[in-house]
Formats: sequence, structure tokens, C-alpha cells
Amino acid sequence: MSDEMLRALRDELGEAGVLTDPERLVPYVVDQRDLVKGSTPAVLRPASTPQVMAIMRLAARHRVGIVPQAGNTSYCAGATPDASGRQFVLSLERLDKVRSVDPLDAALSVDAGVILKHAQEAAEAAGLYLPLSLGSEGSCRIGGVIGTNAGGLSVLRYGMTRDLILGLEVVLPDGTLVSDMRRLRKNNTGYDIRQNFIGAEGTLGVVTGAVLKLIPAPTRRATAWVELAPGVPLPEMLALVRRETSELVSSFEFITARSLALVRAPGGRLKSGSGGVILVELSSSSRHLPVEAVLEGAMGELVEQGWAEDIIIAQTEAQRADMWQIRETIPEGEKRAGGSVKHDISVPLSRTVDFLAQGGAAVAAYDPRLELSVYGHVGDGNLHYNILVPPGEERLAFTARIGRELAPQLYDIAAGMDGTFSAEHGVGRLKRELLQHYADPGRYRVLRGIKGLFDPQGIMNPGAMVDPSDGLPS
Ligand code: MLT
Ligand code: ZN
Repeated sequence: MSDEMLRALRDELGEAGVLTDPERLVPYVVDQRDLVKGSTPAVLRPASTPQVMAIMRLAARHRVGIVPQAGNTSYCAGATPDASGRQFVLSLERLDKVRSVDPLDAALSVDAGVILKHAQEAAEAAGLYLPLSLGSEGSCRIGGVIGTNAGGLSVLRYGMTRDLILGLEVVLPDGTLVSDMRRLRKNNTGYDIRQNFIGAEGTLGVVTGAVLKLIPAPTRRATAWVELAPGVPLPEMLALVRRETSELVSSFEFITARSLALVRAPGGRLKSGSGGVILVELSSSSRHLPVEAVLEGAMGELVEQGWAEDIIIAQTEAQRADMWQIRETIPEGEKRAGGSVKHDISVPLSRTVDFLAQGGAAVAAYDPRLELSVYGHVGDGNLHYNILVPPGEERLAFTARIGRELAPQLYDIAAGMDGTFSAEHGVGRLKRELLQHYADPGRYRVLRGIKGLFDPQGIMNPGAMVDPSDGLPS
């Protein structure tokens, strides 16, 4: 298969579109956390949607697996080929054009390989704003953001990626183009098939373009670093802040002292309270709306409740950027400290503190020497509940042991609260068995069915998320 297919691929994509030099393949066959190493006969780099269609027609004819890859920043090895050496990587990196910005439609049309930061900049140049903000925004690409239905730092106000997609262009596994790049807000004309591809991790087709929803650029922001007293009821605090700011709050992030210590030497001006920190931000596009005063009023109420040990309101943009840099570099801090085993927990808003208590008890009972780095989008009920790799432990062996022995307890606790094992990082190859285990059997039957319907030959990102042959959850 390979030689004939490679010849045909070179004819379609040209030399620059087909990488086979083993050294150049290396960064494409390993996930960003070095947890999964695969192999591939070639990395395909189409430069247009018709080239993606040609690739899929060839893949369907030769029945070979295609693994779509965008920025390769998946936390779940969702874009890494398996070790068989038979799956081709389809990189979106050359599909990197901003197609149009339409200010009155408040819409941005892009190729799927556009880096998220570049999409944000294109919106800003038109006086608008793309309310999708992730730690990895400098390297992740729109196709991956859509494939994982990424969340990030402002979901509380603007929703997940799914809520920001107006139009989509997708190439199906047989090479058919589904083009729905419209900028419509309303379109009730049958099944909304776009939704199938958002969060599908490239298992149903290759997303090649998207129309993203924009909002008026926030011109006023007010940001506070809230050092929490011990035992603060976070759900009640969130409800108060939302109410007293009339839902102007766009971020409500939690940082524990241990996570903070990974990025900032103790004694820095921004400290942790004994119950951790909440980073809260309000934003508005109106010159007439005094978000600073609204924030100050809400913060005053937190003090009255006895929930804050100290509150620092950013006085300058540099101070605000400093606060955000701390939050956004925690994952790098974990890496520097030797790595972490990540758990991307989601529970109902009302249960975050319950999860922290029960999860903490489970970890302490398993091994009281383990250190947790817990932070995340608590305003969305999403906790990054990470366990630091202890000094002297081999990272991969430790990750495997925690995955076998402790993670199931944490996931059971979340499931017992109607929560889930993946809030915003997806399923990929690493959480496929968890999906099979925790999904409602009826829902899992539909997931398998959708996969079989769109991809009857099983050539789209094989091994990720779900396969029609996977057994039903017991
Ligand atoms: C974050 O919120 O920083 C990301 O989701 C990354 C992580 O889990 O570490
Ligand atoms: Zn996150």
C-alpha cells in the first residue's frame, strides 16, 4: 500500500506536502507531554481544502488511517498516531490563512490551521474580540480547538468553543466536502451536523475551516487577586460575585498555594491566602459601564462575609498581566517541577468544594506524601486536579500507577456528583477506556453509531475516543 499511496500523495501535494525524513517526523509522532510515542510512514501537509479532499479519497481507497493534527497540544494524545507505522499524520499547519473578518456580522472566517493567537489578533485588528483564551493559544490551532471543544479562561461568560462556532467546513472520510461556512446566527433547516464535528477529535472528518463568533472588544477590565480565608464556600462565593456584578464576570479562576509556589517564589507580592486564591475578572465593551466600581463593590461584600484575607485589585495593565501570567504558567511550572498526573475534573458548580474535600481525602488515604497541584476554572465547575510526580519517581511509571490505582477513585467521586473525567481536555487515546466505562450505555451506543455512520471504514483517527467495535459499558 505505502509506496503506491506515497507516490499518489506526492503527485497531489508536491514534495513540501509529504514529509518522510525520519528526523522531521519526530515532533509529529509524540504527544506534547511525551506520554505516547507513535510512528507514521509520512506527515501530510496539505495547503488547501481540495488537497485534504484528495488525501481522504486516497486514504479511503487504500483503507489507511489518517490522524488529523493541529497544534499538537492535546493533553489526551488525541492527535498522535499509534505505533503500527500505518497511520498517516495529516498536519493542518499549512492551512493557515485568515479568510475574512466581517465586523457587522461579528464573524471571523479562518482556515483550521490558523494559530489561535493569530485568530485573536485578526479579530482585534477589526476592533472585535474572539472570546476564546487558552494557556496554549500561542501554539494551538483552530482545528484542534474545535476538535476538542476547548474551554479555557472565559467559558463562564462566553461558553466553550461549541458556543462560538457559526460555520464549519469539513472533509468527510470519503473525501466529500461539507461546506457550511455561513455567518448565520439562526438557521433551523434540519439536523445541525456541525455539532458532530465539534469535540469529535478528528474521528469523523477533517475540519478545514470555521467561522467564529466575535464580540465587541472589551475596553474596560477590572481584575482582582483574592487571597481566600480557609474553608470558603466557593459555590456561594461564585454566586455572589455573579449576582453582584450582574454577570459581568468573565473569569473566576482558582489557584491553590501549592500551584502558586510552582510559578512564584514564596514571598512575592501576590500571595496565596490560606484557602488559596481566586483570580476574578470583569470586562465590558462599554465606556459607560464602570466595571472597576462594580468589582470593588462585589469585593467589599466578600470581605464582609469573611471570605477574603486580602484582595489586590490590579491598578495597571502590567499588574493585570502579571496576575494572568501566574495563572497561565502553572502547567509549565508543573513540568519544571518534574511533571504531574493530570485530572481534568468537572462537577456541577455547587459541588466544587465537596470534590476538593473528598478528592483530598482519597489522595491522603492512598499516600499522604503525595502533593497536589490544584487549580482551574472553578467558575465552570472545572478543576485541574493534578498530582505532582514525587522526586525520584520515574514519570511514566508513576503516571501509569496513579492511572491504575488512584485516578479511578477520583473519577468515581466526580461521577458520584454527576461530574465527569474530562471537562475540557477531551478523550483522545488516553481516556478512551474511561469513556467506555463511565458513559451512559444508551449514549455510548449512539457515539459508536455516529462513528460508524460517518466513518464506516474506521480510517479517521483510529484509536481515539471510540470505535464501533468497542463493547458497551457494563
Ligand atoms: C489550564 O487551564 O491551564 C489548562 O487546561 C492546562 C492544564 O490542565 O494544565
Ligand atoms: Zn484548563
